[in-house]
Amino acid sequence: MAEALVRGLVQGGVVAAANIIASTPRSERLDELKASYAIVTTADNAEVARKAQILVLSVKPQILERVLREVSNHVMAGALVISVAAGVDTATIESLLPSGARVVRAMPNMPALVRAGATAISRGSHATDADLAEARLVFDAVGLTVVLDEGQLDAVTGLSGSGPAYIFLIIEALADAGVKVGLSRRNAQRLAAQTVMGSAKLLLDTDEHPGRLKDMVTSPGGTAIAGLHTLEEGGLRTTLMNAVETATKRARELGRGGK
Ligand SMILES: NC(=O)c1ccc[n+]([C@@H]2O[C@H](COP(=O)([O-])OP(=O)(O)OC[C@H]3O[C@@H](n4cnc5c(N)ncnc54)[C@H](OP(=O)(O)O)[C@@H]3O)[C@@H](O)[C@H]2O)c1
Repeated sequence: MAEALVRGLVQGGVVAAANIIASTPRSERLDELKASYAIVTTADNAEVARKAQILVLSVKPQILERVLREVSNHVMAGALVISVAAGVDTATIESLLPSGARVVRAMPNMPALVRAGATAISRGSHATDADLAEARLVFDAVGLTVVLDEGQLDAVTGLSGSGPAYIFLIIEALADAGVKVGLSRRNAQRLAAQTVMGSAKLLLDTDEHPGRLKDMVTSPGGTAIAGLHTLEEGGLRTTLMNAVETATKRARELGRGGK
């Protein structure tokens, strides 16, 4: 996720590579990042904390506490701290940083890797409107950003955080279907993926209601309505709603330290 952000920020011209410093303990990884993006690197997390006006924490949730303890005394005065760690709330992060620390929590998703991510951000108790705007700039570099209350982040995890898995399954199923009706695997998969991407792009670009766009491609007695009838019979809407609800509950359980 950190690499996706670096790529988006550098390629989008949002931050000059020379102004990005990244740390991780593994020197080969640092060499890779330096070679790919010409950013500054160090094996010392505290050095990043001392130098960063915006400090992004992008380690696994299980080690976030350890990393926070390591950097806490070094965070630059007035820095904005952004965490992308799933399930770790801002109150916990704030409690491990000097008092008054300005924290923004983000829930991005995997398509951030191709700068088509969907990210929700929410503020901690000391973050200002300007901090949220700055955090938005970071995540806008890798896709679309929405701002919401932290209480809604589990729902975001259930919808857009876990969503790429649902969509990959749907694309795979559409590709299987294409093969069943006689297309090659490669053609079926490319057509299915492009159809998902194009439909989503059309909706986002026009801001139309999806039902209206569906009506526009559904002619009387035609093929699309025949297919839609079968999807309704199979309970596609209910299945997707149940999936998001179940994933949201699971995110809540994991956030409470469940297994
Ligand atoms: N991937 C997603 O789709 C996604 C979506 C939403 C939220 N997130 C959140 O993003 C965070 C990162 O996830 P990820 O998928 O990017 O995981 P990841 O690929 O495992 O990245 C974690 C990074 O942390 C580095 N690291 C390990 N120990 C460290 C330490 N002590 N100090 C500094 N860096 C250290 C690792 O370095 P090495 O490469 O050297 O091992 C690795 O680059 C997680 O908290 C996750 O919940 C991810």
